[in-house]
Amino acid sequence: MSVPFLRVEALHVTYRVRRRLVEAVKGVSFTIHRGQCLGVVGESGSGKSSLARAVLGLEPEAAHGSVEWDGYALSAQNRRERLAFCRKAQMVFQDPMGSLNPRLKVGAALAEVLKVHGLVKTRKEAFRQAAQWLETVGLDAAYADRFPHELSGGQRQRVNLARALCVGAEFLIADEPVSALDVSVQAQILNLLQDLQRQRGITWMLIGHDLAVMRYLADHLLVMKNGEVVECAPAEQVFMHPAHPYTRELLASVPHVDRGLARRCAL
Ligand SMILES: Nc1ncnc2c1ncn2[C@@H]1O[C@H](COP(=O)(O)OP(=O)(O)OP(=O)(O)O)[C@@H](O)[C@H]1O
Ligand SMILES: [Mg+2]
Repeated sequence: MSVPFLRVEALHVTYRVRRRLVEAVKGVSFTIHRGQCLGVVGESGSGKSSLARAVLGLEPEAAHGSVEWDGYALSAQNRRERLAFCRKAQMVFQDPMGSLNPRLKVGAALAEVLKVHGLVKTRKEAFRQAAQWLETVGLDAAYADRFPHELSGGQRQRVNLARALCVGAEFLIADEPVSALDVSVQAQILNLLQDLQRQRGITWMLIGHDLAVMRYLADHLLVMKNGEVVECAPAEQVFMHPAHPYTRELLASVPHVDRGLARRCAL
């Protein structure tokens, strides 16, 4: 059996809020193999985002446990390895506006990222590559000349994806990437994520509430409740034979609109 792309063992995330301890993640373990999509579902406050941040090493104070990338412990990375890892593993958030600089045109923003990471030599090359990345995520290169506020929510989310991809992302954590978007646009973005997985072999962790969508996008599903994993199995198995009462409850509450969205994904 090949080494998993990501192996997480007994991961805990405990925040200190004044004198109180908040146990957001309580001993979570799972693996993801290269090119696969792990769906993470669970009610609000169940620890999904905390888990995601800990997996990327963004909670150094609060997180304890073992996270291994390609067989190497995240905690053992030196500075150079850490920088390389930051390029390879990226996060895409729910609010695409919040993660873009409002004062920079989209092309300039992407060009800057490419320059900061030393991926281009000249300004001209940076802008040329920026335009190409926009096309990769389904935007006309002319959008390079727009400010973030001159784009729709779905277009901004595409720019965010371009930004993650342009530095060589191999792993994406999408934390409710479509919840802030219109239902009609949600399907387009989810389709784009799936294309990226298939065409570029991107491995990803998709955090969301929409179980009907997860069924089509996720290879494995991890169901969280109160910081713990109640079920982790191939997605189809979870849907056909949910083992835990909580999962059955979640499945029973899939709203009608989500089924429509899954259909529109044309998967
Ligand atoms: N930085 C923090 N400091 C203190 N407590 C936090 C922090 N971040 C999250 N929490 C707490 O940890 C718990 C899990 O939060 P988290 O954001 O991981 O849940 P979630 O599953 O992502 O929820 P949602 O679906 O609403 O995004 C919650 O009780 C939350 O209040
Ligand atoms: Mg969250």
